[in-house]
Amino acid sequence: MNRIRLAVIGAGAIGRKHIDVINQTPQAELVALADPSTQAENLAKDLGVAWYADINEMLDNEKPQGVINATPNTLHVPCAIACVERGIPVLVEKPVADSAERAQQLVDAAKRHGVPVLVGHHRRHNALTAAAKKLIDSGELGNIVAVSAHWILQKPDDYFDVSWRREPGAGPLLVNLVHDIDLLRYLLGEINKVQAITSNATRGFANEDSAVVNLRFASGALGSAVLSDCGVSPWSWEMNSAENEVYAHAPENCYLISGSKGALAMPQMRWWRYGEQSGWHAPLLQETLNIEAIDPFILQLRHFLQVIRGEVAPIIDANDALKSLKVIDAIRRVSLNAA
Ligand SMILES: NC(=O)c1ccc[n+]([C@@H]2O[C@H](COP(=O)([O-])OP(=O)(O)OC[C@H]3O[C@@H](n4cnc5c(N)ncnc54)[C@H](O)[C@@H]3O)[C@@H](O)[C@H]2O)c1
Repeated sequence: MNRIRLAVIGAGAIGRKHIDVINQTPQAELVALADPSTQAENLAKDLGVAWYADINEMLDNEKPQGVINATPNTLHVPCAIACVERGIPVLVEKPVADSAERAQQLVDAAKRHGVPVLVGHHRRHNALTAAAKKLIDSGELGNIVAVSAHWILQKPDDYFDVSWRREPGAGPLLVNLVHDIDLLRYLLGEINKVQAITSNATRGFANEDSAVVNLRFASGALGSAVLSDCGVSPWSWEMNSAENEVYAHAPENCYLISGSKGALAMPQMRWWRYGEQSGWHAPLLQETLNIEAIDPFILQLRHFLQVIRGEVAPIIDANDALKSLKVIDAIRRVSLNAA
């Protein structure tokens, strides 16, 4: 089988993860990197692939069959539009854009050119997510009543040495909570109301470092999310799901989902329900769903290759990702800043 020729735009932290995944995938071949940094130039030399400082030059010279766009948030849309205008399917890292207006430009361009855009909400490819979705959709939990989500993960101070990560729009609402919002929307349906308080009291950057958010789902379920990139905690998808070995593993749960018939704690997949008797005097039965772990970035790339071959539509396209971004935009708009 001919390998699919891929290029990566933006070979920083997550770009290098994508490169590793391409190199582990026999059906794909990395042909070029586009990234003006000297680290990227050196990496391309080490990998023996072409290097370009300019993405347009790379796209015109290399004509890749697919592109992974792992640039800073503000470049997602212009880089992705440069791909779709050339008819090249693109996997754009999340958030799909730095604002809903710009995401809409990409949605429109993808439609106009008839080119698929997959958005890098990689948790959608995780087998844990699929198992939770199956359980919820089966009705075993009953009507979902409430969900509590935590994303509290202390980023090292040198993470913020990279300037774009300190600039407006790159705070943990847009960079991190957007993952949780996407997953909660996927599992529980659309969110139609939000309330929020943010704080930058600890890091003191223009962006929030912490937030509390209330959510109402169209189904009537309610949710809350607690978010911080400066607090110490074992409660975050990264630390709890063990999906990416760069994060230390803590086998805790960061999503507690409760329905009228049962409850699920994710990602340890503890399923709770009553036996013959129910109500607060009755003991709860607990079962753990055993899920085979496969790196979701590998599954995401396999899916992207199918998208490039025209076999399937993206499981999360720019329009779907825009809905998660609109929730984040609404949270940012209504936030009271407690700093
Ligand atoms: N899916 C995930 O779990 C995940 C994890 C981390 C980051 N991300 C997302 O990936 C994106 C990148 O984050 P990061 O932490 O890897 O950032 P980073 O700063 O480590 O990497 C960004 C790279 O883009 C390059 N770049 C800058 N301008 C460019 C241009 N004009 N053309 C080409 N390359 C350019 C930089 O030189 C750098 O190497 C962000 O949008 C972030 O939200 C996603």
